[in-house]
Amino acid sequence: MNLVEKINKLKKEKKAIVLAHYYQTADIQDMADFVGDSLALAQKAKESDAEIIVFAGVHFMAETAKALNPNSKVLLPDLEAGCSLAESAPADKFREFKNQYPDHKVVSYINCTAELKTMTDVVCTSSNALQIVESFDKDQKIIFAPDKNLGGYINKISGREMVLWDGTCEVHDILEAERIVQMKIDNPDALLVAHPECAPPVLELADYVGSTSGILNFTLTSDVKKFIVATESGILHKMRNDSPDKEFMIVPSDETCSCNDCPYMKLITMEKIYDCLLNESNQIELSDDVITKSLAPIERMLEISKKNNII
Ligand code: 13P
Ligand code: SF4
Repeated sequence: MNLVEKINKLKKEKKAIVLAHYYQTADIQDMADFVGDSLALAQKAKESDAEIIVFAGVHFMAETAKALNPNSKVLLPDLEAGCSLAESAPADKFREFKNQYPDHKVVSYINCTAELKTMTDVVCTSSNALQIVESFDKDQKIIFAPDKNLGGYINKISGREMVLWDGTCEVHDILEAERIVQMKIDNPDALLVAHPECAPPVLELADYVGSTSGILNFTLTSDVKKFIVATESGILHKMRNDSPDKEFMIVPSDETCSCNDCPYMKLITMEKIYDCLLNESNQIELSDDVITKSLAPIERMLEISKKNNII
């Protein structure tokens, strides 16, 4: 049996599913039971009745799946798969920050620890951040954490003045506007699509700004045939499968490669997925208190998304 067959056999025996983010490698996306962006993965985790969820993604995503499925085993194939955004906002530092703004509500990007979510009123993802923020009265003061680029972008398009935590995604924030301007000059027939975790000068240049699923939908439905893509390279697998007649150029993180990989997402491999499923190792553990308190703002996000038909 090859590795895919061995994983599939174990999945059946153990009533397990594999959920994968679009930033995973192509072999993992092809093997997974469901592939999605952060919101779709949380929605899928909520409706799951699997006894084991193997999360092919990063730690904060697996924690969210655990909060939504406290009675299931949630396994993260490599426990080192973190996130620079989640790491930028340690719970104790954030508590001090929040205490300086006692009349503010907190909207947290899902890319944060479960502990930070316990200090949050509503969680959001890049798919629903605008609708979540606009679910508050116009004069409600808000702290947005931890991504200052996404928060700044939502401030700009909503006209709000949310207080921003100073965190960034190291994979998106590194992309340089100068490099993109050159790519646009070299490819005048291409549109630029960008994830809102990119820095403001990149977002200013973009023809479309949106979440992973937003970008996939935009490139699928557009009549244009060529795209410059300012996000993580893993998205190319689905893009090229969906639109084999179109050309996609990823914005490279530096001059040495033509890729932009998240080092945390790419820690997950087929071998690690097999091992953790076989041994039921690398379980995500959260205290009952953290589960209860982090679940409330996650559930609020899912309710608001449902009301607005955001998937
Ligand atoms: P989305 O999946 O919400 O687009 O977020 C991208 C990301 O950086 C995930 O870590
Ligand atoms: Fe975190 Fe950025 Fe990697 Fe997403 S791409 S997991 S936000 S470091």
